[in-house]
Amino acid sequence: MSHSDEPTGMPIRITLEPGIYYRCTCGRSQNLPFCDGNHSSNTPAPIRFEIREKQQVFICTCGQTATPPFCDSSCGTELR
Ligand code: FES
Repeated sequence: MSHSDEPTGMPIRITLEPGIYYRCTCGRSQNLPFCDGNHSSNTPAPIRFEIREKQQVFICTCGQTATPPFCDSSCGTELR
């Protein structure tokens, strides 16, 4: 039985206020999905992104997205 149509990731749905954010990419943060400065020079750099107006976003957690840090449904999840 194939499971190819099942989602491979689960984006984090969150409403953000306008501002600059940093998406943790190393997993060391105590404030996931955001960077808290716990990374080192040996870990991937966080992804900086800007929110210009209050909005709901979907943060990718699977690494398949073409639009990091945002989920683009490559994981198979319907964004709503
Ligand atoms: S969680 Fe949806 S593309 Fe990664």
